[in-house]
Amino acid sequence: MNLSIQLAPSHQQGLILDNPVMTASGTFGYGTEYSHLFDIQKLGAIVCKGTTVEPREGNPQPRLAETAGGLLNSIGLQNIGVNAVIEEKAPIWASWRVPVIVNIAGETVDEYAQLASRLDGVAGISGLEVNISCPNMKAGGAEFGADPDSAAEVITTVKKATSLPILVKLTPNTSDIGKVAVAVSEAGADAISLINTLRGMAIDITQRRPLLGNISGGLSGPAIKPVALYMVYEVAGAVDLPIIGCGGISTANDAIEFIMAGASAIQVGTASFTNPRAPLDVLEGIEKFMEEEGVEDIRELIRIARR
Ligand SMILES: Cc1cc2nc3c(=O)[nH]c(=O)nc-3n(C[C@H](O)[C@H](O)[C@H](O)COP(=O)(O)O)c2cc1C
Repeated sequence: MNLSIQLAPSHQQGLILDNPVMTASGTFGYGTEYSHLFDIQKLGAIVCKGTTVEPREGNPQPRLAETAGGLLNSIGLQNIGVNAVIEEKAPIWASWRVPVIVNIAGETVDEYAQLASRLDGVAGISGLEVNISCPNMKAGGAEFGADPDSAAEVITTVKKATSLPILVKLTPNTSDIGKVAVAVSEAGADAISLINTLRGMAIDITQRRPLLGNISGGLSGPAIKPVALYMVYEVAGAVDLPIIGCGGISTANDAIEFIMAGASAIQVGTASFTNPRAPLDVLEGIEKFMEEEGVEDIRELIRIARR
């Protein structure tokens, strides 16, 4: 059976994954945290925690709240900063077989450019995933990815600053995700991942105030799967790039739905918190499905529900 996927077909270097199962940024640390739990080298790719120019402590506590079928988080991009990623993490990744993709986040277009150029040519890094769900500080705090023009501006700038393949991670918090996908595709994205979390909140009725220290947070987990699946379907109809589906995937069946809707690869996120082996379980389940259904190449399944 062939499960390998080319995620950056138009890129000179390309980005070939042995299989379509990736981890979602912010839910799998730097990969190292999980390496004693199972053989993470078997995965298609690892996406690390969102990385910013400077280290960040993140938002005030509490930062996590469980909801029906979901999780609200307002971590606020707590991370070690790009220098520590390059000095401490990349040398470890360089010895791995599994490709590692660095997720980057900026508050200005210039910060995205700085991150992209610092990470360019660093051994152990196979690609960038550009998180455009961050607030654009120069435009009053609206998410870069909420608007096609500001999303495209980020990607045009990042593309100039790096020779690495560029995955663009879309936010669902926009009125027309298809238009944003087209804009980033025209700006030079190699692949598109979606979705990031949906904005939400919870209230502690005894305390009579918002449960999260940051008031609102991002909703993830099984509750968002149908929304994410539909957005993947929509974006697959709007652009011709490889798509990476994400949002509420916890089983192989979930993953196969995303692949049939148009995804070439998928990411497992919140599911890793309840079952750290979830990404491997999803991979083994996909293999079992293919065997049982007589599917020899995963590419036979991509977009099949669209025909
Ligand atoms: C605790 C937590 C932290 C996250 N941090 C990031 C991040 O740093 N960058 C990013 O692009 N997405 C981040 N995400 C979003 C996930 O990568 C993913 O897009 C989202 O959770 C939906 O997938 P899921 O339902 O499988 O978790 C985070 C999600 C969670 C739950």
